[in-house]
Amino acid sequence: MALETLERARQEFLAALAEAGSDPARVETVRVRFAGRRSGLLRDLEDALKLLPREEKPSYGKALNELKKFIEERLAAAHRAAADASKRGEVADVTLPGRRPALGAYHPVTLVRREIEEIFLRMGYSVADGPEAEDDWHNFEALNFPPDHPARDTQDTFFLKGGMLLRTHTSPVQIRTMETTPPPIRVIIPGRVYRCDSDLRHTPMFHQVEGLVVDEGITFGHLKATLEAFVHVLFDPEMGVRFRPSFFPFTEPSAEVDITCVFCRGKGCAVCTGSGWMEILGAGMVDPRVFRFCNVDPARYTGFAFGCGLDRVAMLKYGIPDLRMQFSGDERLLRQFEGIRR
Ligand code: DAH
Repeated sequence: MALETLERARQEFLAALAEAGSDPARVETVRVRFAGRRSGLLRDLEDALKLLPREEKPSYGKALNELKKFIEERLAAAHRAAADASKRGEVADVTLPGRRPALGAYHPVTLVRREIEEIFLRMGYSVADGPEAEDDWHNFEALNFPPDHPARDTQDTFFLKGGMLLRTHTSPVQIRTMETTPPPIRVIIPGRVYRCDSDLRHTPMFHQVEGLVVDEGITFGHLKATLEAFVHVLFDPEMGVRFRPSFFPFTEPSAEVDITCVFCRGKGCAVCTGSGWMEILGAGMVDPRVFRFCNVDPARYTGFAFGCGLDRVAMLKYGIPDLRMQFSGDERLLRQFEGIRR
């Protein structure tokens, strides 16, 4: 009876070892199960020896020793085979394709910002920036928003402790530029801006790009030609551009600039509410009062300025239906921009 148990153990061991093949981890599992010092099967079989009747002990002991030797030898061989197999796997297969590092993608707003920077750099502009936490002077007063003037109500401002605020537009950098740089000035200023506003078409943080040109003899004609050239390069040369009279405190005259609706090409659709046009910019001639606030002589210099929503342009260019998608960090949106470089 006892000898049969040993034979059964041997068969079981062989089956388990065959199943493990040359996988080192599985061979090790078989070793622990049969030859493990604490709870291996051999250990149990040794314990069983003590309980046997005296006359059965010698033959059982002899067979058990043989089984032990057999198992140890087979395990050693299996371990060697497994080691060889894994070494064979280490040989480099030079025909395999390389592993690409994950590079990520540029965000659509970054792509559009860079493209706009490129267009204006080619027209001789430089790129400037300014602080996102602003003071009242730069965000409002020097831009000709007097204290308590209702024009401030349109700006949904986040006020910070200590009299500062989060800039509601990139226009304050017009002031900072004129305060520090004598004309001629040609700059664009991309950046983040903040308004206390949140719905389908507004997020509390968004992006603008501001433009400012100051020199002798600058006219509305320069403004018009510049913005038309910009739209024609950014979208396409067939794009219609329309200037509508408007009001901004810091420009006079002021205009809102529309382009042909990119969805219906001017026929009229739900997105452009049937008009065939979409607004993308505010613009105008720099108000002489703003010049005076910055110690620029309005008798000598004229200039134009414009401000454009980058997120809106990214939506139009890439067909992104909801503004908020751009700031949700959803990889399904971002992955679509993999491989696009600017
Ligand atoms: N700062 C304006 C806004 O955020 C946009 C704007 C309009 C900027 C006209 C300009 C401009 O420079 O000339 O509503």
